[in-house]
Amino acid sequence: QAKLVETSKRLAAYQAVKDHLLPEYTRIGIGSGSTVVYVVEAIAALGPAATSKMAFYPTGSQSEELIEAAGLTLQYISKLPAGQQLDVAFDGADEVDDDLNLIKGGGACLWQEKIVAASAKQFVCVADFRKLSPRLGMAWKKGIPIEVLPMAAPRVLDELQRMGSQTPRIRPGLPGKAGAIVTDNGLWIIDAPFAPLLLPKDTEADRGSDGAWTVDALADGLIKIPGVAEIGLFYGKNGLQVASGAQKPVAAYF
Ligand code: A5P
Repeated sequence: QAKLVETSKRLAAYQAVKDHLLPEYTRIGIGSGSTVVYVVEAIAALGPAATSKMAFYPTGSQSEELIEAAGLTLQYISKLPAGQQLDVAFDGADEVDDDLNLIKGGGACLWQEKIVAASAKQFVCVADFRKLSPRLGMAWKKGIPIEVLPMAAPRVLDELQRMGSQTPRIRPGLPGKAGAIVTDNGLWIIDAPFAPLLLPKDTEADRGSDGAWTVDALADGLIKIPGVAEIGLFYGKNGLQVASGAQKPVAAYF
């Protein structure tokens, strides 16, 4: 299975780069996680003749190192002139639903990832076959990653329980490290599991009869909690495309 997953990630990444990195592009966003490693590998494999005029915008310390190690030109989103956009951004995801809504943040980089995705004309998500599911929360069971101000964490946990998450928890640090995980922004992550989320086509209300939230209604509620900096629900962005792994019969994109 592990080999199949890696093969799937790599195939999806190379296909996504082939189809969506056009030679005239100059500004490219690079996300975080283990799948993006293959995206950067595929870009670097094009060689300097293809990439020398391109600048690559990271979503955190991990992708910054990846870009530099591949010998690609590093640039920062904070330097993007007002009114300008990235041509395209590539990133992974933890789960993808039928409407191409995403859960992201398994690697704790969600805030910068969302800023880079929102800065791009086109956002290409590269996901292997394990991550595709009809409803968010069916495949990725660890919960929706939520970046919070540490001093607000206890209140946010209470509020999440009130909204129906039974076991929200502060994400612990890496093995051997005490305390909570600290993001690139100096904040904490809470993982909040909710019952699988509904799509707009399922109900006109914010919640279904069993209490399950729609993606949009839950996202609206979560982002309004004081102390929440950003949430790992990526939804409703036009032009989102998902490159699936070799396991999906529709092959590359859907
Ligand atoms: C990082 O915070 C995440 O959003 C990643 O994009 C996501 O967790 C996917 O990571 P993998 O490619 O390692 O599965």
